[in-house]
Amino acid sequence: MPVVVIGATGTVGGAVARALLKDHRFTVRAVTRTPSTDQARALAEEGAVVVAADLNDTRSLCRVMEGAAGVFLTTNFWEHLSKQREIAHGMNAVDAAVMSNVHHFIMHGSDPTGADEPKCGYMDAKAAIEVYLRETSESLPFTVVKFPFLYENITSFFKPHLISPGLYTLPIPMESVPLDIMALQDIARCVVNIFLRPKNHMFRAVSLAGERMTVQHMADHLNKLFDDRTITYVKITPPDFATFDFQGSQDIAAMFTFLQKAQPRDTRVTRRIFHSVTIFDKWAMDNRDKLLAAMRGDDDTPR
Ligand SMILES: NC(=O)c1ccc[n+]([C@@H]2O[C@H](COP(=O)([O-])OP(=O)(O)OC[C@H]3O[C@@H](n4cnc5c(N)ncnc54)[C@H](OP(=O)(O)O)[C@@H]3O)[C@@H](O)[C@H]2O)c1
Repeated sequence: MPVVVIGATGTVGGAVARALLKDHRFTVRAVTRTPSTDQARALAEEGAVVVAADLNDTRSLCRVMEGAAGVFLTTNFWEHLSKQREIAHGMNAVDAAVMSNVHHFIMHGSDPTGADEPKCGYMDAKAAIEVYLRETSESLPFTVVKFPFLYENITSFFKPHLISPGLYTLPIPMESVPLDIMALQDIARCVVNIFLRPKNHMFRAVSLAGERMTVQHMADHLNKLFDDRTITYVKITPPDFATFDFQGSQDIAAMFTFLQKAQPRDTRVTRRIFHSVTIFDKWAMDNRDKLLAAMRGDDDTPR
């Protein structure tokens, strides 16, 4: 089954492309604007067909989708920080999939932020793309996969932050509210399974979660890994986070304002799609070295 993965050279799309390749029932067309990069070459070595297209150019997307049965789309806000651009990218991908008679379009979606709440550009963009997708759904069977907070965020953007010698905090503004979380490779496996068994997921959105826990509970799990340092949770609120001095801090803060009030996700829904979901404790043990590297500051995934 030929599947086009848009965002394949990135973190999210790369996980989906690799999960599809690992399954062996798919051929993967990995989309990039620049096929000469190390990320694109690595995908080619792992068996993907690297194809050039740009989300700004619908015709280029039609070319790479020709004869494809499936498309996975993740759009990216962080390169331009523009909700409107992310929406336009998503709409172009939907238009191209319709024109190419794709059988199943799976997009990385999101709930929108609330009407009277602070706005998160990347959440609202994905929600707007879903609205557009639903308007065209007569000609394009689709599934929207809403991601939870990734375990991997703990080794990258939300890594433990040193506050005093030997003492770290997790800079996640959830206060005492539990957070829906999951490993990226398990989310990718869910996407594969939805491509393989689409029946119950067509024309629907599915909200994934492997576990639900407070940030302090996450810190407690991480603490079992180290005897030379302590990871704790120093309360931080979304308004505190919004004052951080980098572009997009207010979008992230708005996301956590939303998540603090969001309905808990039903982890049984996720386990019906993929039963062997990795628990956070196990993921933390398996990724101890990455956590240490992140705390040393030599991880390579800052945004
Ligand atoms: N739920 C969570 O906890 C969580 C965590 C991380 C990320 N995310 C979300 O996941 C999404 C993807 O993030 P990521 O971390 O995977 O991003 P990333 O690693 O920066 O990768 C971005 C990808 O988008 C592609 N891309 C960007 N502009 C494009 C264009 N005009 N045409 C074609 N491809 C284009 C890039 O391809 P080339 O550069 O090769 O062309 C690359 O493959 C974002 O919306 C992000 O907010 C969610």
